[in-house]
Amino acid sequence: MPLKDLLRTADLTPRDLMFLLDLSARFKRSPFEMHTTLRHETVVLYFNKPSTRTRLSMEAAVVRLGGMPATVGTKALQLGRGETVEDTARVVSRYARAFVVRSSDDDVHRLASSSSIPVVNALSEMHHPCQSVADLLTIRERKGRLDQLRIVYVGDGNNVTHSLMEAAALVGATMVVATPEAHAPDPEVVDTARALATETGATVEAVRDPVEAARGADVLYTDTWLSMSDPVSEREARLMALSPYQINAALMSHAKPDAIVMHCLPAHRGEEITADVMDGPRSVVFDQAENRLHTASAILYALVEGKLEGRAPAE
Ligand code: CP
Ligand code: NVA
Repeated sequence: MPLKDLLRTADLTPRDLMFLLDLSARFKRSPFEMHTTLRHETVVLYFNKPSTRTRLSMEAAVVRLGGMPATVGTKALQLGRGETVEDTARVVSRYARAFVVRSSDDDVHRLASSSSIPVVNALSEMHHPCQSVADLLTIRERKGRLDQLRIVYVGDGNNVTHSLMEAAALVGATMVVATPEAHAPDPEVVDTARALATETGATVEAVRDPVEAARGADVLYTDTWLSMSDPVSEREARLMALSPYQINAALMSHAKPDAIVMHCLPAHRGEEITADVMDGPRSVVFDQAENRLHTASAILYALVEGKLEGRAPAE
């Protein structure tokens, strides 16, 4: 049975991820090649949090595949008035060819189990699989390879970190995540990434020291210190705890001279990344953002056409 949903990056096999990267590169060269995949079909995009890149790239991808996106928020749906997630999933499955969802992990899982159509996690508290596919495409474009690269994430261990760790493990990279203890990546994700790494020769390290981590990095990556699912009341404490983890010129000086700098965006210049680095010659953040579009096309195409094998759920 092909993979039905993309809920986290670890749902993919190494071969699936390579397939998505190759297909994304093909869509980048030839964006309208599969313009009949979604002909006469709708894709429902349900976003209960703000989004610039994910929403707009998914909408554009649906159009490029020949379909029509229907984007809705909680207030627009009866879900906001108490209709169950499961009933919503069953109804949407009667209309649409795929369902793209930005909501809680619980919602994403329940929608996926009650939908007969593919469900794509468009960011939950724990995972951001679509981002990680675009990240790896960007790294491969710049570095010409993915295995044996030192990919270093510094800052808050969040959804973007988790998906990047799983993706790096799937492609045999050296993944180093440097965070304060209180903001370390989720232990379940670390274990999952390490289990994947044993299949591919990758290594996955979770450490404290950002400078040690940055030493010899091919890629330096960061994300916001306060995610959409984090309470705003934590903001000041997070800024204090995470300030040693800022990507700035000093931290960059420990990376390889040709290291690239990545951020999933939106960025907070002067917090997790300085403006000079973000706007500097090593930054690939806008290529990353563009690649969200090509990878969205690939993800939708591959799920709708049943092209991914997926891994059997753990016993
Ligand atoms: N990187 C990302 O997912 O951005 P949006 O929140 O704008 O979709
Ligand atoms: N970690 C961030 C990513 C935004 C794209 C958040 O969840 O808000």
